[in-house]
Amino acid sequence: MKLISDTIKEVPVKRRISVGDFQFGAEERAAINEVLDAGRLSEWKKVNEFERLFADYINTKHCVAVNSGTSALIVGLSALIYDSRFPKVRKGSKVITTPLTYVATINAIVLTGLEPVFVDVDPNNFSILPQKIEEHLKNADDPENYSIILPVHLMGYPCDMDEIKRIAEEYDLIVLEDSAQAHGSLYKGQKTGSLSLLSIFSFYIAHNIQAGEMGAVVTDDEKLTSLMRKLKANGRMCDCPVCTRPNGYCPYFPQDEDEDYDPRFVHDVIGYNFKIMEFEAALGVSQLKKADFIFEKRQNNVRFLNERLDKYSDDLQLPAFSKDVSYLAYPIVIKEHSKFTRKYLREELEKNGIENRPLFGCVPTQQPAYKYLQVKYEGKIPNAEYIGKNAFYIGCHQYLNQDDLEYVVSIFEKIFS
Ligand SMILES: Cc1ncc(COP(=O)(O)O)c(C=O)c1O
Repeated sequence: MKLISDTIKEVPVKRRISVGDFQFGAEERAAINEVLDAGRLSEWKKVNEFERLFADYINTKHCVAVNSGTSALIVGLSALIYDSRFPKVRKGSKVITTPLTYVATINAIVLTGLEPVFVDVDPNNFSILPQKIEEHLKNADDPENYSIILPVHLMGYPCDMDEIKRIAEEYDLIVLEDSAQAHGSLYKGQKTGSLSLLSIFSFYIAHNIQAGEMGAVVTDDEKLTSLMRKLKANGRMCDCPVCTRPNGYCPYFPQDEDEDYDPRFVHDVIGYNFKIMEFEAALGVSQLKKADFIFEKRQNNVRFLNERLDKYSDDLQLPAFSKDVSYLAYPIVIKEHSKFTRKYLREELEKNGIENRPLFGCVPTQQPAYKYLQVKYEGKIPNAEYIGKNAFYIGCHQYLNQDDLEYVVSIFEKIFS
């Protein structure tokens, strides 16, 4: 039988500028070998090491690692629903969020039984607009049915968290940050992900700190941490970050003579299996150790591309530069009166080996899975709709060298000439 992969022909291009990359250097190979030498695949010491290092990096007390950013959203939202301290967060309650995000944000809201409600974004940095959140809540017939504000720091740009938190306080709402695309971004000197009750991250390949597949929730809250540890492991009653069992028995659940149970197989909440492999955590640790370098290199690449592509600013809105942004990629919005369409520009770049992707689309009006929301939102969130149709991104990652950057500039020159 012929495999589809055998029929795919590599198109020879002079150079390939990928959106993201992962290169196995000496540190990454050593990380994998460490796991092989330790001899355990399922989650253990490396996962715990990653959790401790990542919590320190973001400056939160706790980190719970899970198998993806999507799982992190589901486990975080589920914990809020389970926790009796937050009675407003119940199935069917409403979550105010951004329409311009990778679809996982909205899928997680819907799959946990919550209802997404969308307000528009800032056209310059793609972030949810606090004044639109406030306007929406002021005019809502049922403000008591709202439970969460879920901002997304898209492409690394921090949302206006002071304003979001002020509104949340006024309306008694929880804030959960989706910081999947913003590893190390700063808002008024503090890392995104440390600015609300709980926050999620994704370490999917091509994100700034990457592990292949992996996610995490960070928080200062001990009870939520315990709940999330249970929920990610099918709701088991124990919540240790690493299960050691020095004598073969769990020291934390002492049993009377007539009792006979194993806390790993007694389940007191209904949960998922979102556990991870040691390999992923080991790769995550290796990247976390390079976080400052990655942050700086990506910023330098964005700064360089901005300087050299600025001459096309009649047609292109280039990414606003800030020393506080940890750039996931290099987003470009085609301006309204541009001589180019996004389709044309994306195709020309791809033909020349520059990989690119659309900026996700406006979820309620442009994603087929959410067709049922189209009539309700069409024309009501114009910035997100415009960006969803007219923006795309190319790579700015840490493996690009000066020649690669010059090549990208030369291809834009060719297209515009
Ligand atoms: C904003 C946002 N949220 C959530 C996710 C989901 O993360 P994952 O792909 O690890 O499930 C992503 C993934 O890129 C994302 O960009």
